[in-house]
Amino acid sequence: MIVTGALAIVNIGQLVTLAGPARPRIGPELGELGIVRDAALLIEDGRIAAAGSYRELQSKIPPHAVIEDAEGRCVTPGFVDAHTHMIFAGNRAAEFELRISGATYQQIAAAGGGILSTVKATRAASDDELLAVARLHRDWMLRAGTTTAEAKSGYGLERGAELRMLRAMAWINAEGPMRIVPTLLAAHTVPPEFVDRRAEYVRWIAEELIPEVAKLKLARFCDAFCDDHAFTVEEARTVLTAALSHGLELRVHAEQFRVGAGAALAAELRARTADHLEMATEETLDALCTAAVQPVLLPGSVFALARSAYPPARTMVERGLAIVLASDFNPGSSPISSMPFILSLACIEMALTPAEALSAATINAAWSLGLGESVGSLEAGKQADFLIHEFNDYRELAYLIAAPARPRVFIAGREADFGR
Ligand code: NIG
Ligand code: FE
Repeated sequence: MIVTGALAIVNIGQLVTLAGPARPRIGPELGELGIVRDAALLIEDGRIAAAGSYRELQSKIPPHAVIEDAEGRCVTPGFVDAHTHMIFAGNRAAEFELRISGATYQQIAAAGGGILSTVKATRAASDDELLAVARLHRDWMLRAGTTTAEAKSGYGLERGAELRMLRAMAWINAEGPMRIVPTLLAAHTVPPEFVDRRAEYVRWIAEELIPEVAKLKLARFCDAFCDDHAFTVEEARTVLTAALSHGLELRVHAEQFRVGAGAALAAELRARTADHLEMATEETLDALCTAAVQPVLLPGSVFALARSAYPPARTMVERGLAIVLASDFNPGSSPISSMPFILSLACIEMALTPAEALSAATINAAWSLGLGESVGSLEAGKQADFLIHEFNDYRELAYLIAAPARPRVFIAGREADFGR
């Protein structure tokens, strides 16, 4: 979306720019937020022209600029949510209740529920129903401050329904304002019609679906879920190498429930990300670090499944991994659309500092999506995607747990309209 004209945001008490090196942040860099006090943001045609102290920028504000007063509040980049399953029909509230009564996520999946129950609902939904639910979820995320989101297919698991999911993403991306990055996740679980013919399903993804999706340019990334009720490492390798040969980049659901499920493969294939990693060992972390794979941490799915083992975020930071934080918003393991809540979990359960969590949820997430040059920080030349918060200190984002906060959300310099 192109926004023409000049906009100046003035009277910013605390401007969190996240200015820094043009690459994912590691180690102590994660805590360096590039904060400017008594600041201003100048925006031209939807991009940031300058970010800095008001005193320095005052004389550069063009006379025709629209002026917005931030009332002394904190301004940060919008969240970049780099792992979501935001398009799905139906809901799994009944399974939520079953889990509370003691059934596990894996038991429910093995009994034909879990991902497969959402597949059934998604296949049955009309195009209009799918779009309506995509918009609803998009709006929840947007209200909480997400300005860019990755979205995965994987509730179709057949040609028509997978393409419909990807087309719904293209549609909501085009209508704006949220930027959507599409990922093909046909290797999410084996659909019922292929249970006795797994190899055939894998071959179909690799030889037919991936070439078609790549040709139609409906996905930028390809993902595969490596686990007991999903795909083996060998099956995932077949899918992911096919994706690479068709120009898609890789993300991998790895080591969520079992050691040895996918992280080594992510390193071997130089995936952009290895996601989950609750069970990751030190050895795995070293392999990811060497291959510059970014770990995507999804504390929402640990929390919502009432598990106790969060991924070893502190060890990852100490080892120099460029961590990312994401919601994993989905109807089963993480019915959580709010990035501020994810930041709270990251601080409380994984001992990240509020600054580290914010870097992981913005600039590092942007790099993991291949968008590090254009979003994720407030630096000259980048898209003007930012939030004017209702508080004065960025630490309040994580600290005010599940606050019904209403930040003002700007994407490409235009304020999202929630009909307030
Ligand atoms: O990231 N782990 C696999 N996929 C999702 C869950 C999807 C679902 O339960 O519908 C996840 O947790
Ligand atoms: Fe996921």
